[in-house]
Amino acid sequence: MKDSQIKNRIQKLRQEISRLRFEYHVENNPTVTDDIYESLTRELHKLEKEYPKYTDENSSINRVAGLPLSKFKKIKHEHRMLSLNDAFGIEEVSEWGVRMDKLLNTKHTYFCELKLDGLAVSLIYKDGIFVEGSTRGDGFIGEDITENLKMIETIPLRLKNPYPQEIEVRGEVLMPKRVWHSLNKIQESQGKQLFANTRNAAAGSLRQLDPKIVKERKLDFLAWDLIQLQIADTKLEKHSEKHKYLRDLGFQVAPYEKKITNLKEVSYFIDQIGEVRDKLPYGTDGVVISIDELSLQEILGVVGKAPKYMIAYKYPAKRATTIVTDITVNVGRTGVLTPLAHFNPTLVAGSTISKATLHNMDQINRLDIHIGDTVVIQKAGDVIPEVVEVLVKMRTGKEKKFKMPEHCPVCGAEVEKRETGTKQKNKIFPLFTLKGSDMDKNFHSSALSSVAYYCTNKNCSAKNRRGMQHFVNIFEIYTVGPKILDRLKDEGLISDAADLFTLESSDLSGLERFGVKSSEKIIASINDHKKVFLWRFIYALGILHVGEQTAQDIANHFGTLEKIIEAKEVEINKIENIGPIVSGSIHDFFTHKENIAFIKKLLDNGVVIEKVKVVNGGKFTGQTFVLTGTLSSMSRDEAKQKITSFGGKVSSSVSKNTTYVVAGTDPGSKYDDAIKLGVKIVNESEFLKIF
Ligand code: IVH
Repeated sequence: MKDSQIKNRIQKLRQEISRLRFEYHVENNPTVTDDIYESLTRELHKLEKEYPKYTDENSSINRVAGLPLSKFKKIKHEHRMLSLNDAFGIEEVSEWGVRMDKLLNTKHTYFCELKLDGLAVSLIYKDGIFVEGSTRGDGFIGEDITENLKMIETIPLRLKNPYPQEIEVRGEVLMPKRVWHSLNKIQESQGKQLFANTRNAAAGSLRQLDPKIVKERKLDFLAWDLIQLQIADTKLEKHSEKHKYLRDLGFQVAPYEKKITNLKEVSYFIDQIGEVRDKLPYGTDGVVISIDELSLQEILGVVGKAPKYMIAYKYPAKRATTIVTDITVNVGRTGVLTPLAHFNPTLVAGSTISKATLHNMDQINRLDIHIGDTVVIQKAGDVIPEVVEVLVKMRTGKEKKFKMPEHCPVCGAEVEKRETGTKQKNKIFPLFTLKGSDMDKNFHSSALSSVAYYCTNKNCSAKNRRGMQHFVNIFEIYTVGPKILDRLKDEGLISDAADLFTLESSDLSGLERFGVKSSEKIIASINDHKKVFLWRFIYALGILHVGEQTAQDIANHFGTLEKIIEAKEVEINKIENIGPIVSGSIHDFFTHKENIAFIKKLLDNGVVIEKVKVVNGGKFTGQTFVLTGTLSSMSRDEAKQKITSFGGKVSSSVSKNTTYVVAGTDPGSKYDDAIKLGVKIVNESEFLKIF
């Protein structure tokens, strides 16, 4: 992005975030879920960090969320109510931990506890009696909600003995998930607005002016901190001791807390909570990690709005915002054109998403997606990435409308628009939109007949499909069989073999019948085969009349791809065993722009041509080797390179024409094939001696 674009983006983000904060905290009427708000905030923080010249101290983002409400009395907090710095990902927790280790340079303990997804409140007790309770507000001034808080059963009105003369307890007001579900049912039956999550429901309830309503809402309170105003003889030295003390006073404190001495176990704790958090009775969006020793906390202190000694690990969001950088078109097996949205890579539910199919033109029109739009993406059913909604408010006016091409992007043939007359196969609702009207709009349009765009060239996709199968075979990407190729094409994830090299495992694991493990295996095998020898690259292009031997002959003769592309027909014709028909075909292939473009795309997408220099007079010329089992002194690729550099060929299967089968440890069935066919078998040390 250009400097001016970045500046505009930052401004736009600030504006929208401010608006969302107002909606949430003041109007108590959020139109997006927390994921979306946080995703925009994350982008703003990232840009501000990368471009410090555009940071603005007065930016609303630098304030603790919330403005004091006007309808409640204001209360100045004796001690500022701080916020927490977030860590998105375990790496950020580790970085923080390493920083702490360096700063403290002394033995310390980490304390891990649940990050509860509710509202922070402060409770003041004098002589054991609950006298005043307030919201966090902007951190300095909150709202007096004492009467409402008294309606919460788990907020003790009187502390258990022995209690200190004066104490401030802080914690989270939550609405249990079960209560939230039934509240939403009631809201629905009364035609009232639903609460997007338990936190919104808890917030909405606490802001009620009538404490009776609060009582009905069955809120809960869990304490997480106390401020020592006056604690006579109790000397608390650790954060964990505060938790124990809170329990003794009669407060609920969240379960699952742990004192940990190393960062590895912190990460293990986070994983364990990740496993159970969906089953907990209330919302938890992360884990709070702190330095347990209060004396060390004091040394570390506070920077800005957050203490240095604490960090909040946040579990990956299921939805996030990103920018549509482009919309390209893939051609499916039936010739149908499928638009594919490309994004700024964004982390959603633990994996990075950089593209998602838009299915068809109807979908684009329904969501009104433009190139340059800020969109909300999510993983449907937790796996398939999809666009859920456009954040229209983030538009700058520079967004571009997408138009289906008039010609097939693969073969250039004309594109035809056909009515399919069916309902949308992939109907997507903006799941997080809270207002009913958009839902209706989407529902009606999805019920209409839809149109699809087709490439009119009957041979286009079929040809392409065969070409791709040949390509993956020659590149030895055996995990990608014809069925998978078809599937990837049908889903619009690839249009040619070059697209394979930009796939991510999340693209595959999103498809039905593809597990996460098998998807990762496929992607790993694609990546493992990005590097090929020149002859293999030429062979894989599927040039008419060019088989394995011819490809090797051309590669050996010219040595580089550039020279082959530029070679005149007569030059090719000079090569032994290559006649005029073959040389004509080769030359013709490289005169077509789309073939050159495909080659360029392969290289751009990471395919690397490995250089082979034939040495030692090509002493293995004409000999074919087959490798089986594991070699101890070199990798299989190194062995292959060694053989080819001496002019030999490496084949993946044993035949009568195989010169040697090189057997490492644990050889496979090729070893048996060699015995059956009477091919000479050499072990690793014999193999090394042949050179
Ligand atoms: S300690 C220095 N502990 O997260 C601030 N906060 O982003 C002290 N929260 O305002 C916070 N669970 O509403 C702390 N176990 C926990 C928490 C927790 C949830 C919330 C709290 C706070 C916000 C900070």
